[in-house]
Amino acid sequence: MTSQDRSPFMTHADPAAFPDSSYLLGDLLAERFTCRAYRPEPVADAVIDRMLELAQMSASWCNTQPWNVIITQGQATERFRAALFAEASSDKHEAQPDIDYPQSFPGIHAERRREVGWQLYDSVGVQRGDRAASAKQALENFRLFGAPHVALIYCERELGPYGAIDCGVYLGTLMLAAQSLGLGMTPQAALAGHSALIRRHFAVPDNLMFVVGAAFGHADHDHAANGFRSRRAPVEENIRKLRD
Ligand SMILES: Cc1cc2nc3c(=O)[nH]c(=O)nc-3n(C[C@H](O)[C@H](O)[C@H](O)COP(=O)(O)O)c2cc1C
Repeated sequence: MTSQDRSPFMTHADPAAFPDSSYLLGDLLAERFTCRAYRPEPVADAVIDRMLELAQMSASWCNTQPWNVIITQGQATERFRAALFAEASSDKHEAQPDIDYPQSFPGIHAERRREVGWQLYDSVGVQRGDRAASAKQALENFRLFGAPHVALIYCERELGPYGAIDCGVYLGTLMLAAQSLGLGMTPQAALAGHSALIRRHFAVPDNLMFVVGAAFGHADHDHAANGFRSRRAPVEENIRKLRD
């Protein structure tokens, strides 16, 4: 396993070497993590609005800005959580994402997936081989990890994969915007498996495809599920630099 802690990416021997903005962004990137336990109190409307204004600055192909986003709060979150959890807990449910899930996670991708999975299970005390306990932790996705809000990101089907890419760019900006406001956020592909239920529940028109969800709120920093940080491969593992 070649992955490493995140700090080497953020620190530099000579902090004067780059503009301050690089360190500001580095701090946000280093502090952000996928939050998997929330405090129940809602986020103030003004803070949600600021997060959405910041995310609205995302780039998109031809400036199409194709993200269609549903945001819930209060009873709207509670009703959705109850419906989602009921479906996810039923043995009969089969995942029906609007965008196909990966066929497999080949090679190093499976290793990285396993590593972060075990980081989570170790932090919440799930033992190797305890399938009931790991399934219970996975079900937390459908309790929205206790978050008071969720963002559900849709895109016109006709825009195809590039519309979904734009929504992925939007999700990335949204996560950094949330971090800049001191909020926790959980990107959730798990919700895509319930796209039919979500479509019915929120009366989403058929021309839109579900891309990804993101629960958000105030992180519960004392919760064990928030007590680890995922690692990153050294830059050289992902980048091929060509020089003459
Ligand atoms: C598109 C996308 C979908 C994700 N879906 C889920 C999910 O359904 N449930 C979950 O717990 N984490 C989900 N994650 C979080 C990843 O597991 C996490 O980003 C990764 O392990 C790196 O950890 P970090 O976000 O804490 O840096 C998702 C992340 C992304 C970008």
